[in-house]
Amino acid sequence: MCGIVGYIGDHAAAPYVIEGLKTLEYRGYDSAGIAVLGSKGATIVRSVGRIRDLEAKLPKRLTGKVGIGHTRWATHGPATTDNAHPHTSAGGRIALVHNGIIDNAATLRTKLMAADVAFTSDTDTEVVAHLIARSAADTLEGAVLDALAQITGTYALAVTDSGHPDRIVIARNGSPLIIGVGEKETLIASDAAALVRHTTRVVHLDDGELATVTAGGFHTFDREANDTGREPVEIDLAATDLELTGHEHYMYKEILEQPERAAAVIRGRLDARFATARLNGLNLSPRELRAFRRVKFLGCGSAYYVGQIGAQMIEDLARIPADAEPASEFRYRNPIIEPDTLYVVVSQSGETADTAFAVLEIKRKGGTVIGAVNVVGSTIAREVDGGIYLHAGPEIAVASTKALTNMAMAFGMLALHLGRLHDLSYADGERISNALKAIPEQIQAILDSEPAIAAIAQRVAKAENAFFIGRVRQYPVAREGAQKLKEISYVHAEAYPTSELKHGPLALIDPAMLTVAVVPDDELASRNIAAVEQVRARGGEVVAITHEAVEFGTIAIERIVVPKTEPELDPILLIIPTQLLAYHAALVLGHDVDKPRNLAKSVTVE
Ligand code: AGP
Repeated sequence: MCGIVGYIGDHAAAPYVIEGLKTLEYRGYDSAGIAVLGSKGATIVRSVGRIRDLEAKLPKRLTGKVGIGHTRWATHGPATTDNAHPHTSAGGRIALVHNGIIDNAATLRTKLMAADVAFTSDTDTEVVAHLIARSAADTLEGAVLDALAQITGTYALAVTDSGHPDRIVIARNGSPLIIGVGEKETLIASDAAALVRHTTRVVHLDDGELATVTAGGFHTFDREANDTGREPVEIDLAATDLELTGHEHYMYKEILEQPERAAAVIRGRLDARFATARLNGLNLSPRELRAFRRVKFLGCGSAYYVGQIGAQMIEDLARIPADAEPASEFRYRNPIIEPDTLYVVVSQSGETADTAFAVLEIKRKGGTVIGAVNVVGSTIAREVDGGIYLHAGPEIAVASTKALTNMAMAFGMLALHLGRLHDLSYADGERISNALKAIPEQIQAILDSEPAIAAIAQRVAKAENAFFIGRVRQYPVAREGAQKLKEISYVHAEAYPTSELKHGPLALIDPAMLTVAVVPDDELASRNIAAVEQVRARGGEVVAITHEAVEFGTIAIERIVVPKTEPELDPILLIIPTQLLAYHAALVLGHDVDKPRNLAKSVTVE
């Protein structure tokens, strides 16, 4: 979704800003723009389409050393050049870029229009430029504070003023904003990925915080203009983590990274002495953890499906009632927040607005909420009471893969930890712990069978419709498999519990309907095989994701065999082939795998 980049320093700003915007392309956008402050004021260039279209429109000589840029994902008004950021005040003195939504923009627009202010866009953002320009304050900081006092909503803002060309003023409320501190240069970005090529010393602004950013450094302050004295910290993110390193797609690179990343999430966290997991980041004592009588997972999209996997693991291993719910629905149903429920929010980006609002709802009502988050220092990671970082490394492709695997690995550890605080025996703790350790190698074995999966994907690509079916632990696997296929191949796919097929969906089975059945070697295998038989009897084709020991007899199906782990952890491995199926189907169909249509990597609006 929308992205912000800014530069102020010794060099021409435009190349830095354009490079940063290109890094943020993965987040999804429909238009972009840049403002560069030079000796004759601000040069504003905006464009619909890709950053390369914007780059092509830049004047040959653009030497100003202060610049801000933006990628826009349309919310208020269509994707047009006029609606692209930066927005300016009349005469162009103030230029600003904005992520988030100004809730009272319509009221402010009416008031400003009554005062003869002419608007040039349909956006909510433009009101902020006019409010700043109309402030009587004699500093840019004062004018921004005046404007913020009049607006409600969420924002990350970066503002330049050709009357104060030595600075960029930035403000954050509910939308991330990071300062990168370099040598004689300072950068700003909504995502650390956009500035790590230049510095890894960063400050994550807090909500309600502002900063003056200059070539020599920065100064942070709050809405009452009090100094907040923030110091930079080092982030563990290398520019090379963001490269394709010879692969054609980020999604493919991220699928291949899974053995290494899955090993990273358990590293140092399995305690052989007590056959448990050591999760110090939870910030909860054994006594506090034992007091929870219920666990609820909250996440959106795939993170919600993996939350369902986590809930089942907790019920299996800790015998504590657990469930998962879409974070996007949570706060709208006035949820009952129970003091003895442990809330677990799940997010790769740590910036998903729906999930972040769920955290606030839980905290507002006094609940305890921990996070399973990938991006260190992200909004959700900073709001929760504690949590488990996923250590999946930067995930660029819109379709999440390695982060989901690490969520499931993290939930395996959480379930083990809670289990060992309750009635899980030492022997069972060891069984799970050993199984978790073996998973990275087992993922590698699945990845080694890629050619066979790619061949089956040829058939998947031909389907117009597909069912993904699985039971109990494997139902979330089916949901995630269907989601992945939809997202990047645009093949219509729906997930059902296998047991539900006969209660309705079976009516749709015919030779044109493909069924991907998740059939592990467990106590439900014979029932699953019976369901596969019912599909075949109606002429439906079946691809089974299964274990070696499962015998389908003479039923004609395609089989993708994955290694067996402990039953509680099977979903972690059974999900992996669905990634490769979706990836290869999307390749066959010629789609933009990393940037599927209509989707954004990080959904920062509700
Ligand atoms: C996954 O492939 C999807 N792109 C999407 O469902 C994603 O998982 C969801 O939007 C949540 O994102 P988050 O993990 O960054 O919060």
